[in-house]
Amino acid sequence: MNVAVFGAGYVGLVTGAVLAEVGHRVALVDTDPEKVSRIAAGHSPIYEPGLESMLQRGLAGQRLWATLWPAAALLAAEVVFIAVGTPPSAGGAPDLTAVRAVARALGTHLSPEHPMVIVNKATVPIGTFRTVAEWINEAYYERHHQLPPTGVFAVVSNPEFLREGQAVADSLYPDRIVLGSGDGWAVERMLALYEPLIHRTFSPPAGLLAATPGATVPVRVVNPLSSELIKYAANAFLSVKISFANEIAQICERVGADVREVMPAMGLDPRIGGRFLEAGIGWGGSCFGKDLNALIATARGQGYAPAILEAAREVNARQRHLAAEWLSAQLGSLAGRRVAVWGLAFKPGTDDVRDAPALAIVRDLLRLGAEVVGYDPVAMPALRRAWPDLPIRYASAALAALDGADALVIATEWPEFSTALLAQGVARMAQPVVFDGRNAVNPQAQGLQGAVYRGIGRAAPARPSCQWAPEWAEEATL
Ligand SMILES: NC(=O)c1ccc[n+]([C@@H]2O[C@H](COP(=O)([O-])OP(=O)(O)OC[C@H]3O[C@@H](n4cnc5c(N)ncnc54)[C@H](O)[C@@H]3O)[C@@H](O)[C@H]2O)c1
Repeated sequence: MNVAVFGAGYVGLVTGAVLAEVGHRVALVDTDPEKVSRIAAGHSPIYEPGLESMLQRGLAGQRLWATLWPAAALLAAEVVFIAVGTPPSAGGAPDLTAVRAVARALGTHLSPEHPMVIVNKATVPIGTFRTVAEWINEAYYERHHQLPPTGVFAVVSNPEFLREGQAVADSLYPDRIVLGSGDGWAVERMLALYEPLIHRTFSPPAGLLAATPGATVPVRVVNPLSSELIKYAANAFLSVKISFANEIAQICERVGADVREVMPAMGLDPRIGGRFLEAGIGWGGSCFGKDLNALIATARGQGYAPAILEAAREVNARQRHLAAEWLSAQLGSLAGRRVAVWGLAFKPGTDDVRDAPALAIVRDLLRLGAEVVGYDPVAMPALRRAWPDLPIRYASAALAALDGADALVIATEWPEFSTALLAQGVARMAQPVVFDGRNAVNPQAQGLQGAVYRGIGRAAPARPSCQWAPEWAEEATL
């Protein structure tokens, strides 16, 4: 099938590459000339494991190409994805400027001889599928002085659930596909497009086998309003889970329990599930905060105060300030102190720094007069690009960041930030004061006992000695 994808960012580029991988012909359209030329040259403009090689296979097989020109991409397109950004506007609601620009381009180039399914993959306020149709009609009308005939286009809501850092695997092997539409022909076309993914009939790329081979992907065809809400509800629930873990972490610290013991045991209940229960400095990234704010705004706009969602947001905001509060208490004042920050991406496996908790911490530290030395294995170029004036120094390696530091904040749990690495590094610090915002290291390990350490929700000793416990109990907990 011929596909056009508008927006070659984290979602659009991965969607396009995966659809090309399973045999479709895909045109990627972006307004950023640098991005388009990088893609055309076979280089991924974002860090996403497995993406670049997939991109190169698509280009070499002539199933994928990138362009700045909507008209060229739309010539043969049967399905068109809108995957542009919907960043938060000043008031918190998603800014639909880019979605509108694409919808208008589609209306301008729409031809009655060539029906198109227009798929909204961006995360948008409830009801946007209607607004997109209105924008398309408006642009078509301006050109043709009449509305497009019925059936020339249909807008389908198809929310995206990929996780950055695992986006290629998530897109090849989705947990579910949600299609919001009342148009039978559009749904049929979407099912045909996704057929190789639904029944996993493609040859898996090297190193990317399905976790559950042979499984058929559940497809839910729903009302478009429900479809748009499913995306917000899913992200809101995940945000609530993390904030819940952080709330329990705060209680753990006060009663002497350890959140790393409480959460996994709690999560063994299949009604609860063990994932997304890690306590830390909170969620970040381009989606959770933005989507939670949008859902809160939607609820409030309808006269409903969403207490759980607002509490989840508040708990998350509090967690971000813990590092600066604790370091100030430990060091007296942060003025003139050198603080190393390990990890700048909002999570491991990505170079995305949008709404990264690390950035909030860096800002707190700078405000309090600290000198900040940052290190991240992949996200430093992205942070430099996004915040060129941020007055921090970038280190060439994790250990180099510690030279002469009065404290360290671990803000992203990249696997390389291990206990062993930190044990090597503390001797390079002026003072071994460590705020481990991701519970990434074991403070009891050799080489770290002398450090002043604070994790999240683990104020108590990890294994309090238990006089009465039988020998087997001690073994079982090791
Ligand atoms: N990033 C994620 O993990 C994720 C996951 C699920 C859903 N989403 C949603 O998907 C959407 C896209 O997110 P993203 O992270 O890929 O954004 P992104 O900022 O990485 O990419 C957006 C791209 O759109 C391009 N663009 C802007 N205006 C354009 C136009 N008129 N025509 C063509 N291209 C244009 C930009 O240059 C950019 O490359 C958002 O609504 C987001 O909420 C994101």
